[in-house]
Amino acid sequence: MQPFIAAMSKVRQAFFAAIIRSLLRTKSLLQTILKIWISPSLIKGENVDASANGGAATSSSNGRKIGREEFMEIVEKAFKPSSSRERLEELSEGLKKQLLESLEDNQLCMLPSYNHQLPSGDERGNFLALDVGGSTFRVALIELPGREAAAGQEGRILKRATFKINNGVKQLKGVLFFDWMAERIEETLSGQSEGHDMSEAPLSMGLAWSFPIEQTSLRSGLLQGMGKGFLAAHGLLGQDLGDLIQASCSRRGLNVHLNAIVNDSSATLLSKAYSDPTTRFALILGTGVNAAIHLPVHVFSPPKFGVRPEEWHACARHVIVNTELSMFGTGILPSTIWDDALRAAHPNPTFQPLEHFVSGGYLGEIVRLVLIEGIQTAGLFGGVVPPSLTQPYTLETETISYMESDHTPTLEKATAIFTSRHPSPSSVPCLADIQAIHTIASYVSVRASALVATGVHALWSLRNDAEGFQSSPGEKTLVAYNGSVLENYPGFKGNCQRFLDGLVEGSGGVKGSVELVYAEESSLLGAAVAGAVAAGDS
Ligand code: BGC
Repeated sequence: MQPFIAAMSKVRQAFFAAIIRSLLRTKSLLQTILKIWISPSLIKGENVDASANGGAATSSSNGRKIGREEFMEIVEKAFKPSSSRERLEELSEGLKKQLLESLEDNQLCMLPSYNHQLPSGDERGNFLALDVGGSTFRVALIELPGREAAAGQEGRILKRATFKINNGVKQLKGVLFFDWMAERIEETLSGQSEGHDMSEAPLSMGLAWSFPIEQTSLRSGLLQGMGKGFLAAHGLLGQDLGDLIQASCSRRGLNVHLNAIVNDSSATLLSKAYSDPTTRFALILGTGVNAAIHLPVHVFSPPKFGVRPEEWHACARHVIVNTELSMFGTGILPSTIWDDALRAAHPNPTFQPLEHFVSGGYLGEIVRLVLIEGIQTAGLFGGVVPPSLTQPYTLETETISYMESDHTPTLEKATAIFTSRHPSPSSVPCLADIQAIHTIASYVSVRASALVATGVHALWSLRNDAEGFQSSPGEKTLVAYNGSVLENYPGFKGNCQRFLDGLVEGSGGVKGSVELVYAEESSLLGAAVAGAVAAGDS
C-alpha cells in the first residue's frame, strides 16, 4: 500500500504544480484543464515538459520510476568509466588517427596558417588588437616592447574596451556584423590620444578570430561556417574576412589597416611564444574548444596549403596549425544518453563533436539534461522541474561552476546561487537536490577535463612522431592555455593536467613534462604579435 500512497501523493503534487505553473503563465482555468486532459502524461509526471530534454527520448531507467540513489548510481556509471586511463589511451589513439587523416585531406580542420615563423621577440610598436570571441568583442591598443623589455610579460595593454556579443549581435547577418564591429572600433578609438595619433599613418590591426578560417595570406582568409550561434557568415561563405572588416572600417572613415588574422588558438601560441620561445602548443577552452600546434610542413599533403606564393614554400619549414580540435572525435567519444539528447536537439549536431562534450557552451546543458531526467524519474526537486530550466541551454556553465566551487558540507553558497537563478515556485530544494546537481556537475566536468587532456596528448604524440622524437622531445613542452573554463572552472585545469600527466607517462614520457601554462590575455596579445610579425614580413 505504502508505495501506492506515495505515488498518489506524487501524482497530486505534480497535478497541482502543473495547474499553478499554467496559471502563472496567465492561461485560463479552462485552458489549463484542457491541457492536462489532452496531455495525461503531465499528471503522471512522466514528462513534465517534452521540450525540456530537447524532445529526445532519454531515459536511463527505461521509463521506470526509481529512487534518488539508484539514479545517481546510473549517472556515475555513465560518466566515470570514460575517464579511466585505459579508455583515454584508446581515445587518444583514435583521435590521433583522425588528426593524421586530416593532414591529408580535410578542408575544415588541421588548417595550416601563414605563420611559418614564431615571433623573434624583437617585434616592437603599438598595435590595435581585435578579438572576436564567443560572447565578447574586445578592442585594445597594445604596446609590444620587445622580449627583453617585456621581462616575461607578453606586452602592455594601453587601452581596451569590451563589448558584449548578445544574441541580437550574434544574429546580425553578413556585412551587418562587420559594420557593428567597425562601429565598436570607432567608439574605442574616439578621443584616442595615448599611443597613436590618428592623423598619422594607418594604425596596424591584428585580429584574433575564434572561428575556423581558411587562410590565404597573413592578412586574409576565407570565411567559413561559424559555430556558437553566429550568423555573420550568412551569405558570405568563402569571402575574404580581411576585406570585409577593412571595408566596414573604411565606410566609417577609420584610419586603420588590418594586417593580420589569426585563429584565437594560434593567437594564444604566438602570445606565449613572444615571451617564451619554447612554446609549441596552445589550448583554448571557453565557449568553444581548440588547440594550435607548431608542426613541420612535410607532414601535410600539398593540397592542404592551397595556392601559396613560391616564396612562402621556400621559407617555411614549420607552420602554426589551427587544428580545430573541436571537430574531432566523431564516433569515438564516450556518449551517454544525455549527450545523444543534446545532439538530437542541436541545429548542427555533427559539426563539432568534441566541443559538445567539453566546452563552456555545453557543460551546463549536459548537466541540465541529466537533472531533468532525475527530476522526472527519481523525484529530485519533488518531481517538479523549475520553470526556468524547461528550455534548452537555460542552465549556464557559469552556474554549475559556482556551485562546484562550494566544498562545504552544507552547500549554502551552491544553494543560494542555484535558487536565485532557478527558483522553484512550489518548494525550496533540499540539500540532497543541491548535492545531486553538484555531483552531476562534477561527473560532467571531470569527464570534460579528461577528454581535453586526451586531445592534447594526441596532438603531442603526433608532433613527437612528426619531429622524429622517440616518445618525448626530451625537454619540457609548454601548452599555453586560455579560456574561461580552464581559467575559472574550479579544479578543471588541475584535473586536466593530472589526466595529461597520466597519459604522457603511459606513453613513455616523463610525468609533468607537458605543462599547461597560463597565457594571460592571449587573444588580444597574440593578435598584436601577429600584426607585428606581419608588419615585419611586408
Ligand atoms: C571554433 C574555433 C575556436 C574555438 C575556441 C571553436 O568553436 O571553431 O575556431 O578557436 O572555438 O574559441
